[in-house]
Amino acid sequence: MAVQSIQLDTLPASPEQARLWCAQLEDGEILYFPQTPAPIPAEDLDFLLNQRQSGASIHKNIAYKPDRDRLSGWDSQTMNDAEVNRLRGIMQRYSGSVTAFLTGFLAPYQGRWRRDYASYRPMEEQGRDLPLRRRNDLLHTDAFPTRPTRGARILRFFHNIHPTRTRDWVVGEPFRRVVKEFAPRQLSLPHSQSSAGRAAVRLARATGLASLVPRWKRTPYDEFMMQLHNAMKEDAAFQSTCAKVFVQFAPGSSWMVYTETVPHAVLSGQYALEQTFLVDPAAMVTPDSAPVKVLEKLVGANLT
Ligand code: SIN
Ligand code: FE
Repeated sequence: MAVQSIQLDTLPASPEQARLWCAQLEDGEILYFPQTPAPIPAEDLDFLLNQRQSGASIHKNIAYKPDRDRLSGWDSQTMNDAEVNRLRGIMQRYSGSVTAFLTGFLAPYQGRWRRDYASYRPMEEQGRDLPLRRRNDLLHTDAFPTRPTRGARILRFFHNIHPTRTRDWVVGEPFRRVVKEFAPRQLSLPHSQSSAGRAAVRLARATGLASLVPRWKRTPYDEFMMQLHNAMKEDAAFQSTCAKVFVQFAPGSSWMVYTETVPHAVLSGQYALEQTFLVDPAAMVTPDSAPVKVLEKLVGANLT
């Protein structure tokens, strides 16, 4: 695992450099901007740093859905309507500025991604008391229980807006290595399309996913990825013995990573913004690195 540090004064980059950055992301590296390329206006930053979550919302991130301009997860006990509208406007600007930046920066993916949700994470991450499968301080790869991606890749762009503290992560080895450890335990590596289908149904039942998402929306790929997320968090031996590195993201920095393939955990830090993109696996500059391709090769069957 490597962190590629990118200085803003080297931008805009050549088309060759943009392809190299895409290839590095696809290879499980983190692209790190010591100074964010999508700065937040000072008055927006002030407002964000003064938010306090309480009550039921204390366990939630605040989510912003750009396609519907909708906010959820905010604290109804401490925020009035005007404040909710203000926060929605801030998230809309953040989401827009990250998208505008990445449209140029990740030129090889243009037209091949969908902008997904953005989130604001005002909680202190250290010592959050969450159920095991929702804990983010255990190494995991991301999968959305209610929103299967059907093979699309999960690219996340973060911004540590804490004025003085780092956001501290642990990062594991990329998918193509860890999957070898987990795949035989999860999918019984079926050799035909029909047995892949049967394995997927067994998985869906075992994970309880069947009741959450209608069958037509999920693919065997989604079921595997959800199961991988759970299996990593539940595997104490993997958590303690797997190869991992500790990474600190400075105040005011940004970074992005394919979180469905790079095992990650957040150990401490407070106040981060995040924007998710769902990228077409066919848009990869190294198409064989897409997890759907890696799995299909392992299983010998179509998983979407
Ligand atoms: C996660 O995606 O697991 C959490 C990352 C973070 O909030 O820093
Ligand atoms: Fe995650």
